[in-house]
Amino acid sequence: MENDTNITWHEHRVTREERERLHGHRGCVIWFTGLSGSGKSTLANVVDHMLAARGIKSAVLDGDNVRHGLNAAPGMLKESHGEAFADRFGLGFSAIDREENIRRIGAVAQLFCEAGTIALTAFISPYRIDRDRVRATMREGDFIEVFVDTPLEVCEQRDPKGLYKKARAGQIRHFTGIDDPYEAPSAPELTLRAGEHTPEALAGEVIDDLVKRGILP
Ligand code: PPS
Repeated sequence: MENDTNITWHEHRVTREERERLHGHRGCVIWFTGLSGSGKSTLANVVDHMLAARGIKSAVLDGDNVRHGLNAAPGMLKESHGEAFADRFGLGFSAIDREENIRRIGAVAQLFCEAGTIALTAFISPYRIDRDRVRATMREGDFIEVFVDTPLEVCEQRDPKGLYKKARAGQIRHFTGIDDPYEAPSAPELTLRAGEHTPEALAGEVIDDLVKRGILP
């Protein structure tokens, strides 16, 4: 039987506190969640840009990009790794694949946070339990859940990648908001009405919130 319990946690020589002192700000995870086309990636990128302008260390992790590498789809892995590997480790959009997608991203975001960096994640992350599990792995105050609250009608009208149209036509199955669920956060740290304000105004709200929480000086 494989033994997966003989694994020991090592403390790093440079502590998180030392890194945060060097950086001049705290690390944290800003977890944007919302429907496809709600504006998560745009917002994460505008916040990232504003943080960079202040000399803050931050990084964006977003759905489409991470699904090209760490969480590639089975079809993307087949040629390089073979079918068995691709079927086992590649991720699609079933509930269990989305669960694993969010678990991996949560672990990566936590590494950024422990390195004293602000991780901005932009994933639909449709299931409350998956987001709450990430929150539970983190220290109190490290996980800032931001609900990008854009109505489905607005997302569908924007349809930047033409995916809603395909989902309505039955060409994509299990599309969030159409024939797959989205569970809105019950107590997010911040709710942004992204259908009503500019990304810059909303990103400003995020920055103000980080200052209020003592994450930014
Ligand atoms: S999840 O639910 O958190 O695991 O999804 P995520 O990793 O954020 O990936 C969402 C992007 O994948 C595209 N896409 C789909 N979204 C939802 N449902 C289905 N079935 C689907 N198939 C492909 C879509 O471009 C999403 O991008 P965003 O940026 O959210 O619009």
